[in-house]
Amino acid sequence: MAKRNREFLHDVHSRQESAASTRNSATDSGEGYARALRLFTNTFGGDSEKPIIAQAIASSIQLQRIAILDVGGGDGQCLRKVLDLIEWPYSRVDVTGVDPRIESRSTFVRHFPHGQYHPVRFEEFACAERFDVVLAVQSLYYMDDPARAITKMAGLLRPGGILIVTTWADSCFLRALHRMICGDSSRSISAEEVKGIMEMTDALQDADVEYFAGKVSVSSWLQNPDVLSASLTVLSRDCSSAPLRMPTIELIVSKLNEKGDNAERVNGVVTARRRGVSHGMNGC
Ligand SMILES: C[S@@+](CC[C@H](N)C(=O)[O-])C[C@H]1O[C@@H](n2cnc3c(N)ncnc32)[C@H](O)[C@@H]1O
Repeated sequence: MAKRNREFLHDVHSRQESAASTRNSATDSGEGYARALRLFTNTFGGDSEKPIIAQAIASSIQLQRIAILDVGGGDGQCLRKVLDLIEWPYSRVDVTGVDPRIESRSTFVRHFPHGQYHPVRFEEFACAERFDVVLAVQSLYYMDDPARAITKMAGLLRPGGILIVTTWADSCFLRALHRMICGDSSRSISAEEVKGIMEMTDALQDADVEYFAGKVSVSSWLQNPDVLSASLTVLSRDCSSAPLRMPTIELIVSKLNEKGDNAERVNGVVTARRRGVSHGMNGC
């Protein structure tokens, strides 16, 4: 049993090393991260943010035509699923995606044939257009300065438009794991902290947070070194370019063993509205 355990730890460690060397190579296409994200999210169950986001969009915008900016939306699949949940009163939806991963563009265009995709970091994104909805689902962690990113998102909204940000909550088990890997930093920003920033942002009002409790199948991480390594890669939120060290992997595995299956993944969907009155006109 101990031997099997050692082999498992070794397998996870060698996957971490090869993921880090791909990440650091000049020819990294980003496919490795996309695959890691798929393996990680395949272990999710329970509630999801999508119905909450769909409800936030549907109940707050009553225009015939809406413009949505999806920040860190990757290949657009999450937003596509959200929009498919809405009984659609709008005659037209214009979607703009901003995500540095160029390889996500082709799938994004499949989901939104008339959409625009900007393969840049949000920090570098410049645009004269203003949006009815600005959305950042599980992507704020990656920004250099989350408070600054929120101010920028608020500035890209039309008066009356809505900002929607999803992150883990203070109490989320995955956040605790992230802090074991990376310590405390802007990358561990929680829904409660996001709400606090929105409350301090002059351009925004009515900040609110709605929680949902998803599940994570920890046992499927512990059965497959590929899945555990992929989950740790996504959870590290790019906090380091170095592979995880063996003692950290050991510590994480012992915590996961204590946790048992179906750990809770508590996330918050944080919303706020741009001050000012909407004139009901939109479009570029
Ligand atoms: C965890 S994924 C979330 C993807 C999608 N929103 C979803 O929920 O399925 C985080 C995304 O943020 C993107 N990202 C990383 N750094 C970013 C930055 N500085 N600006 C914008 N997006 C970024 C990544 O490329 C990735 O697609």
